[in-house]
Amino acid sequence: MKQSDLGKLIQPFHVMELVKQADALEVQGKPVIHLSIGEPDFPMPETVQIALTKAVADNKTRYTPALGLPELREAISNYYMTTFKVRVPATQIVVTSGASAALMYACLALINPGQEVLLTDPGYPCNKTFVQMAGGNPCFVQTQECQNFQPSWADLSNHWTNRTAGVLLASPNNPTGTQLTTTAMKEIVGGIQTQGAFAIVDEIYQSLCYDLPAQSVLQVTGAPSEQMPLVVINSFSKYFGMTGLRLGWMVVPESLLPVIERFAQNLSICPNTPAQWAALACFTQETLAICEERRQIFKARRNFMVEALPKAGIELHSTPDSAFYIYAKAPFDSDAYCRELLEKAWVCAVPGKDFSQHRGHEMMRFSYANSMESLDEAIQRLRQFNNGTC
Ligand SMILES: Cc1ncc(COP(=O)(O)O)c(C=O)c1O
Repeated sequence: MKQSDLGKLIQPFHVMELVKQADALEVQGKPVIHLSIGEPDFPMPETVQIALTKAVADNKTRYTPALGLPELREAISNYYMTTFKVRVPATQIVVTSGASAALMYACLALINPGQEVLLTDPGYPCNKTFVQMAGGNPCFVQTQECQNFQPSWADLSNHWTNRTAGVLLASPNNPTGTQLTTTAMKEIVGGIQTQGAFAIVDEIYQSLCYDLPAQSVLQVTGAPSEQMPLVVINSFSKYFGMTGLRLGWMVVPESLLPVIERFAQNLSICPNTPAQWAALACFTQETLAICEERRQIFKARRNFMVEALPKAGIELHSTPDSAFYIYAKAPFDSDAYCRELLEKAWVCAVPGKDFSQHRGHEMMRFSYANSMESLDEAIQRLRQFNNGTC
């Protein structure tokens, strides 16, 4: 059967091949340690599990409005006020099937075929796909280690052309686990505003930060508007540990709501209904306390890995302060290195090529979404592997 041109453009996740190999080794009984995983190793908070079970038992399983449950939109609006002291009306919040659907709706609503969208390199691999699905051309802006792999306005404006429609970036970012400074964020949104372009800011790892309080671009800009053409993306996947429930949200200018609603109606009808009812439990004191405890555990793991990796022969060139990733230099070609590391030391880390067009072959990503015991064992194996003793 003939494939579409878009189908041919879509790139696979190269990492999945490595994970398949890791799975095969595990079937053979090898004690593989996964430092490859992009989701919390904790189960969904018990409070949310209970709410989910209750939602199903109460038959809350029919379609909801396409923009999401009004109660949940209201709860997210309150969360912005209580946590970030920023007023975001519930009417500007759209609940989506994960950050993934929010990114897709944003790109479909904002990009015209042939327009360019600036993306950071390294960055989340699917972003280019969302841009391409809207007919846009992803244009990669290489970020520097000395800026913690986050762009400045100067970096972005150097890539600006008359076809540039806007910018899509993430803070904190995947694979780097680093954030934009408030100053850089201000300069970037100011520059984009002057250009009359759009900014899509993905804040999916927002509350998983370890050195500074969690921040939002909305604290700099206020709620998006005609004057501030901004879309903010977020999710219940990471901080709330609900990856499989497929629930996220976006904050949009009011003028964008009707088009986002049309895309939501047509593409998914509504987000998962029981998941939306369960998500209401995320904003209780009890759940937030569980998430805070987990954030502290991630912080301890981050501290351990940042200290231990260089001693095990892995150079770090940036300071990861968020998410659960460390982006580091591989001792040799990262593809070959990750493959050998898996085959000989049974440690599964990810080569950089999914995340970076420019330096993917040099860099690799470690995820510390694993127990301290496993991280400790992984570091010992890494040290032996890098010393040539395993
Ligand atoms: C930066 C970034 N944005 C979006 C997503 C998609 O997340 P979700 O599970 O909310 O669709 C991910 C998933 O890893 C991510 O790392």
